[in-house]
Amino acid sequence: MQTQLLGNAKQVTTQNDHIIIQTAEATAKIWVYAPAIIRVNITQTPDKPDASFAVIQQPETGIKFTEADNELTITTGQLILKVNKTPLRFSFYTAEGKVLSEDDARFGVNWQNERVVNYRKLYADEKFIGLGEKTGDLNRRGTHYVNWNTDASKHTIYTDPLYKTFPFFIGLHSGLTYGLFFDNTHKSYFDFGATTDDEMSWFGADGGDMNYYFFGAQGVADIIKDYTWLTGRMEMPPLWSIGYQQCRYSYMSADEVLSIAQKFREHNIPADVIYCDIDYMDNYKIFTWNDEAFPDPKGMIDKLKALDFRTVCIVDPGIKVEEGYKQYDEGVAKNYFATYTNGDNYIASVWPGRCHFPNFFDDEVKEWWGAAFTALTEPGVEGFWNDMNEPAAWGQNIPYLVKFGDRYMAEVRNAYGMEMTKATYNGTRQILGNKRPFMLTRAAYCGTQRFSAVWTGDNTATDEHMLYGQRLVNSLGLVGMSFTGVDIGGYTGNPTPELMLRWNSLGVYIPMYRNHAEIGTAMREPWEWGQENMAIIRKDIELRYRLLPYIYSGFYESSQNGLPLSRTLAIDYTPDENVFDVRYQNQFLFGNSLLVAPVESTKLTAEVYLPEGEWYRFGNDKAYEGGMAHTVPAPLNDLPVFVKGGGIIPMQSVIQSTNEAGDGILYLHIWKGIQDSTFIYYEDDGVTYDNERGIFHKREISYHAESNTVMLAVAEGSYTSKFNTLKLISHGFDKSIKEKEALYHSGVIEISL
Ligand code: GLC
Repeated sequence: MQTQLLGNAKQVTTQNDHIIIQTAEATAKIWVYAPAIIRVNITQTPDKPDASFAVIQQPETGIKFTEADNELTITTGQLILKVNKTPLRFSFYTAEGKVLSEDDARFGVNWQNERVVNYRKLYADEKFIGLGEKTGDLNRRGTHYVNWNTDASKHTIYTDPLYKTFPFFIGLHSGLTYGLFFDNTHKSYFDFGATTDDEMSWFGADGGDMNYYFFGAQGVADIIKDYTWLTGRMEMPPLWSIGYQQCRYSYMSADEVLSIAQKFREHNIPADVIYCDIDYMDNYKIFTWNDEAFPDPKGMIDKLKALDFRTVCIVDPGIKVEEGYKQYDEGVAKNYFATYTNGDNYIASVWPGRCHFPNFFDDEVKEWWGAAFTALTEPGVEGFWNDMNEPAAWGQNIPYLVKFGDRYMAEVRNAYGMEMTKATYNGTRQILGNKRPFMLTRAAYCGTQRFSAVWTGDNTATDEHMLYGQRLVNSLGLVGMSFTGVDIGGYTGNPTPELMLRWNSLGVYIPMYRNHAEIGTAMREPWEWGQENMAIIRKDIELRYRLLPYIYSGFYESSQNGLPLSRTLAIDYTPDENVFDVRYQNQFLFGNSLLVAPVESTKLTAEVYLPEGEWYRFGNDKAYEGGMAHTVPAPLNDLPVFVKGGGIIPMQSVIQSTNEAGDGILYLHIWKGIQDSTFIYYEDDGVTYDNERGIFHKREISYHAESNTVMLAVAEGSYTSKFNTLKLISHGFDKSIKEKEALYHSGVIEISL
């Protein structure tokens, strides 16, 4: 094997939207996508079509550069790229000329056979955050990772790789920020100075191009905004999908599903969603129902609807090899499945036994798959859980001979789950018309946020899984995935009652709030824990429902600017070293104003770090000074959650499901701050796409510290809010909590505190 370094520029030309630099080894191209986004592609196969699963934007036209001596310079409003010609090396600077990131001068980009790697200079104080669903610490400096979507069942808190691939990270050094998205679906590698004597970081892949987007915005939030501009943002989720979700592998019959739903109502525990895991099917054949255990799916779902429950069903990609099974027969007849190189359909075993795997990289296959969802939508299913789509196969070692159409598994494996989910989304969206489907997937690649929520797979019922799971959620937020969840309580094993309570209380602040457990584990539903514990679980689920106006508005923000609901403190408090301290690294902001500190179930006090500013304990309004750590009580019925001074939190009365109209009162909670603050309140019907046609209700709520007033600006959009009364509740202004009432309407509302 030889190492081939990228050599000298021989020729420089420009096309309308890109610069082309030819070397003996490769063709390098440069595009400007936005003032803070430059793309570099270095390829040894320049004639291959340029396609991306992730990117939805086009480059700017009319690219220009200046040339001096041995250097080309591309200047945008916000970034400078200097290209050294001999040898070809790339260095990125801020508009003021401060270096953000640059190739290692010796090795830059190079190849060993098909493997392409970029070695970059590592700065002494450089930190790295991102890569999405990856174990390890918030600051990834000194570690390395592989992207290769894997059915990581029984994973530990150190396992790598897991289910998803997000080759996007953010670098922080010298008070500067930059982002880098390596858009390549081959097996890829990231090394943040693990074994290079602190000299270099590097990333690369087993094949494909050195194809990356460099982000130069100053500020982590702005980099996430730019990254999600490039790769897309989430749609508003169905409101019901952000309520409480109950799942189990599996509720074994329609009767069991109904009795579980019924019990939520009997116990007055709010909930919106119940799942059917694989046992609803006939022998795990996708798009079928088990006619003994689920003889009348429509009847079951109608009854669930009458109980205000929505139904989500699982689908796996594996199509059972069985003559007479529609999907098998059609797929074989039309060559819709993955094959070996000689054209034989590839077979591996998953839940149904021997299976074929649809080639989701083909549009016709996608349509065929999507259209089959009538088997689920006709009885009334509204949520679709895409599982086992890494793809998983027992043994977990799909041979490198396997192809999806023209492409080898190795080239596109990391995008398989995303393309399956896209097919499910396109199909169900078309069938459901104006109704929003809920979409969940286990495997994902960059851009999946456009059409699906994700969860972090098969975790375990331990405290360490709860804590690291929160880090996964926070890290997924850095790569544009806002709608994320973990199996609350832990999928494998049985949580202690204390862990169940603690995890459930943390779940209030996890974007997707789903309790799920593996087959063979003890039942996990809220009433399984005794009266006293059930009361605590109920209170927490009620809190989730009270917070829905805040949470739904938070999702609106994600849909507009890509910022996640669960935010590592590294987004808002980047320069503060403490937020990277392993003692505090699990803490996060939930929306703009709540700071949540996950705590083990075995500890009843916690050391919490509060960043600069004023903070109040959510629930009792005790004031805390920011910029320091505090030891605070953490009883099992009161997770340490703090509100930022100036925090604006719209809440509602408890409802048993999002289908309930409620009492029409919007509780607007405001905590005293020394600075002005604002909140964008958002509401729509929660179920249709009418919001995309202006039928929403949105307004800015602002708190003015000096005049002690709260202003609700005129509401935009033509949707009539479900609220008619406003109760303003002020906290921290003096000892007592003050309440003021007003009519809620779409015109300006001004209230002094
Ligand atoms: C996989 C999923 C899990 C599901 C099970 C059965 O292990 O990760 O959530 O319950 O398959 O479908």
